[in-house]
Order: sequence, then C-alpha cells, then structure tokens
Amino acid sequence: MIILGVESSCDETAAGIVESDNKGRLILRANAVLSSMDIHTAYGGVVPEIAAREHVRSINPVIDQALKDSGLEWSDIDAIAVTYGAGLGGSLLVGVLTARTLAIIKNKPLYAVNHVEAHVYANFITVDSRKNVDSGSGYVLPVQPPAFPMLALIVSGNHSQLVLFKDHFDYVLLGQTHDDAIGEAFDKVAKMTGLPYPGGPSVAKAATSGDSFAFELPKAKLTNISPALQQLRSSATNPGSGSYDFSFSGPKTAVLRQAQRLCGKDFTFPSKDLPKTLKIADKANIAAVFQRVAIETVVDKTVDAYNEFKPSSVVIGGGVSASSELRKQLAERLPILPHYTDIRLCTDNGAMVAALANFKVAQGQPTVDPYSLDINPNLTM
Ligand code: KG4
Ligand code: ZN
Repeated sequence: MIILGVESSCDETAAGIVESDNKGRLILRANAVLSSMDIHTAYGGVVPEIAAREHVRSINPVIDQALKDSGLEWSDIDAIAVTYGAGLGGSLLVGVLTARTLAIIKNKPLYAVNHVEAHVYANFITVDSRKNVDSGSGYVLPVQPPAFPMLALIVSGNHSQLVLFKDHFDYVLLGQTHDDAIGEAFDKVAKMTGLPYPGGPSVAKAATSGDSFAFELPKAKLTNISPALQQLRSSATNPGSGSYDFSFSGPKTAVLRQAQRLCGKDFTFPSKDLPKTLKIADKANIAAVFQRVAIETVVDKTVDAYNEFKPSSVVIGGGVSASSELRKQLAERLPILPHYTDIRLCTDNGAMVAALANFKVAQGQPTVDPYSLDINPNLTM
C-alpha cells in the first residue's frame, strides 16, 4: 500500500508518501514541505489569509516534488489522505479541495485524517527509502514503532494534550490545555522578547546563554478531571487522582510582568516596547526560565501519567517535540526511553498524514466521499 498524504492546516504546505510493506513496516518514500513561515516572521505569527494564499501557490509544486523525490508515478499511488482538521479554515480548504480533486481525476480512494492524531503517527515510520533527494539529508527514525498501550504527549503550536492509546484508533484523552498551547506560548514569549517566529527554536537558542533559575516562574495548578479520565479510573485497581490538564497563559503573563519589572516599568508598559528596552542578558534569562518551566509542566504530567497507567511506550509528537530540552527532561525522568522522530517529521508534514492513513486502510476504515468531504477547523481527538 502506497499513500500520498496532503497537509495544509497551518503555514506548511506539505505532501508525503509512505508505503507499508508486507511486514507492516512504514517506509518513508517522500516528505516535501514548503513553508510560508518566513513571510509570517515579519508579523510575529501566522497570518491566516497569507497562509491560505501561499498554500494555493505551493500545493501543486509540493505534490509534484513528493512524486519526484519518491521516484513513483501516479499509477503507483494506492490512496490519497488529507488533513481535514483541526487547523485554519482557509488553509485546510486548499489541501482538502486539492486532495478531493486528485482523488476524482486520478480515481483514488480518499481518507480524511485528524491532524493531531497524525502527529502521533509520524513515530510509526521506521524506514527512510527516499530516492531522488539530496545526499546528506537522511532522516534519523525510530528503529521500532511504538508499542501499545502507548502514552502520547502531543505538543504543537495549537495543541497540548496527553492521550492514552490502548490500540490504533482506540484512545482516551487524559488531559489538554485550558488556554494557550505550549508552542503558542513559546511563540508569544519570543515575540515579547524580540526573538523571531517560530518561538520554540528561537527561545531554545537564546536560553543557551541564560540562567534557567534566574527568577521564579510558577506553574499552573489545575484540578479538572475529564469525564473520560474519570471513567478510565473507575475501573482501575489503583486509580490516580491528579489532573492531566495544562495551562500556559498564566506563566506567559508572569513572564510579561517579570519583563516589565526588569525594564523598571509597571504593568501598563506595552509589551511591544519590551524587545528594545530589555537587556540581552535579561532576554536570555527569560528564555531559559520559560523554556525550563513550560517543558517541566508537560514532563511532570507525562511522568505522572506513566506512573498511573504504566504504558509500554511513551511518544512525543507535534512541533514542540523537536525541543531538545523536552527530549532531555523526558529521558532523565522516565524509566523507559521516550519515542520521538526526526525533527523534519515533528513539525507539520504530509508523511505523518500518509502514515496514519496506512493504519486506516489496514483496519478497513471507510473512505470518504471526494465530492463532499468538508473541513473541520475545530476537530478534536
Ligand atoms: O506541529 P507544528 O509544526 O504546527 C502546529 O500544528 O501547530 O508546531 C509548531 C510549533 C510552533 O509553536 C513552534 O514554536 C514549535 O512548534 N517548535 C518548537 C521547536 N520547533 C518548532 N518548539 C520547541 N523547540 C523546537 N525545536
Ligand atoms: Zn501540527
């Protein structure tokens, strides 16, 4: 089975090709991505209208590129999969309409994929056999796919959630953010301190010259237990009692107040004036403290969930799973090695969409109608 995956939910226009072989292994045949990130950098965050327009320009070239990189022809493609949510409406429309059109004119079955689930499935790709790509760009992939039960921490610019997978497509959402996603908080702290978008990598870079204990930054304490988690615990012999929800807006505002104090100003000082007023050393300290605390927040919950549910594997997915601080803290605090993939498969890509669709096909899940598939910007897990 060879599947073309199309992704356009935010600012990356992407097409990936993933094959499943007769041993059930997932093989990466192509991962083409065109990002409009550089244009958004000028605005300090993604501008939805610009992202949608750039998808229109990039979608056909990126699909052509994926086919070229894989050395495959249209006749080799068995199915098309596309992200239909969650994401920006205008952006999702471009990918979905393209995939629908291709499914009709190339006569291929069409699968609709949840973007957040797809981030988890990037971890199931274990072989890189791309043909026509530049040398030196081989991906470092997991040796084995993650085993079930699997605890997944999904951390991106739009999502922060902990999910316990009993099997493929059989999962319980343990907790999620009440406000900002962790990646979004990184992006906002970067903007406050004058660091470029996207915030995750630029905060990480600035943090290397800062003191991660330079000042106190409280973690949010949440008590909310979702009905799904309540139900899971009701049948457990030794149920936990804590909440797996997150909040990043409190720490983000605490960073703003600290930055204003460091400038000798009060809370009325506008955040847009902070970058030119803060000293370089203060920016580095803010980056280091925020990165440590934000990452600790998700790691604390992941370790608690590991101890409660004793999964066979722990995986991380989403753009923030590229964070070396996250990978380091998890490796230090979990009794098993966390599962993660090449950075180019952590941020948005089409290969993860194709990877997930391979399991949909294997499990006989229904195709969708290429004449009527709609987007769902608010799709949840
Ligand atoms: O998954 P993704 O590409 O898009 C969404 O679905 O949101 O994630 C983008 C987010 C951004 O907020 C970015 O700041 C963050 O991932 N990110 C990182 C790193 N690379 C990207 N955060 C921390 N460390 C990184 N190396
Ligand atoms: Zn994403």
